Amino acid sequence: MAENNVLPFPYEFKQLNPEEQELVEKNFPYLPSSYVRVGPKGYILTKPYINEAANIYNMPLRSTDVFVATYQRSGTTWTQELVWLIANDLNYEKAAEIPLAQRYPFLDLFMFYVQDENEKYVKNVEATEPNFDKEKFSQLFNVLKMPVTPQLAAVPLTETRFIKTHLPMSLLPPTILDTAKVVYVARDPRDVAVSCYHHSRLFRILGSLVSFKDFWNIFLKDLYTLTPFFEHVKEAWQKRHNPNMLFLFYEELSQDLPAVIRRVADFLGKQINEEQISHLCEHLNFKNFKNNKSVNYEDRRDVGLLASDETFMRKGKAGGWRDHFDEVMTQQAERWMEENLLDTDLRFPQL
Ligand code: A3P
Repeated sequence: MAENNVLPFPYEFKQLNPEEQELVEKNFPYLPSSYVRVGPKGYILTKPYINEAANIYNMPLRSTDVFVATYQRSGTTWTQELVWLIANDLNYEKAAEIPLAQRYPFLDLFMFYVQDENEKYVKNVEATEPNFDKEKFSQLFNVLKMPVTPQLAAVPLTETRFIKTHLPMSLLPPTILDTAKVVYVARDPRDVAVSCYHHSRLFRILGSLVSFKDFWNIFLKDLYTLTPFFEHVKEAWQKRHNPNMLFLFYEELSQDLPAVIRRVADFLGKQINEEQISHLCEHLNFKNFKNNKSVNYEDRRDVGLLASDETFMRKGKAGGWRDHFDEVMTQQAERWMEENLLDTDLRFPQL
């Protein structure tokens, strides 16, 4: 986009109200001061996003760009690898050689690495973790906190850019689907909540010390990053008929991966035969995927970013929420989903 075409970022940033702030501070020891709500839907982002919002909204796009967009913990990584392999003619060697995180710059990653919270985090982890490597952690932090729009702009025009994002469609460039391709993945919010809870225990910098029940209440109150969940999904759902948007459910990947592979191949204009599909299914199967060093984020463990009793690749199944919800929470979830699905034909496949 030419410089004189730069769009002003159209949304306001608001502080949390005092009651919300208190709840967040009580539950997330490393994040209390950094949340902001963005726009009319009140998406929860963090303060570093404020300076980068317009750059992302205006990022110049290319017709070859491929985004994988999700509300976090909805099957992003699984879909990223699937999409990348199909787009790259099943180049398994290269996929093994270059970690997924390098193959896909993560557009909004920087916003999870907030300087003040980092200092609190380091103090806290140093006091409790004898193996914590402060030096390594600081080096990694300094990379992760950087916005990636400049890095994306520097990718040679001859290369396809694969981009990971958890931002909702309304915070991405408004003409994105006129130019680039987006694969959006949605997942039953009850499984998302359970997975986010474990994720916030895994990446201790997200700092959740609460029980799942407390976490669930925070999620329901739209006080976890990138919530409100339903708004996020509905924005993409509304665009699902656009030829540059492929809308998938985690549950579809779980239930019929070959069918999803065929849809992705069609979407990317690639041919794939039955033998290749079956090989790809094997590669993407959770039992193999969780041990795949290129995708499982285990390389962050020796830096002190990961808690010892959690893994990025956790259970890998649909419907696992049932083991975490009591009767009250189950009913609460049903009501919440019903209310939020009233004005839409979006339905999460039930397995
Ligand atoms: P669980 O925590 O329920 O196990 P994201 O990549 O968006 O962060 O999503 C992570 C979730 O997807 C985790 O869910 C993870 O285990 C699951 N997942 C990742 N790869 C998978 C695969 N190959 N098969 C099934 N689930 C997978």
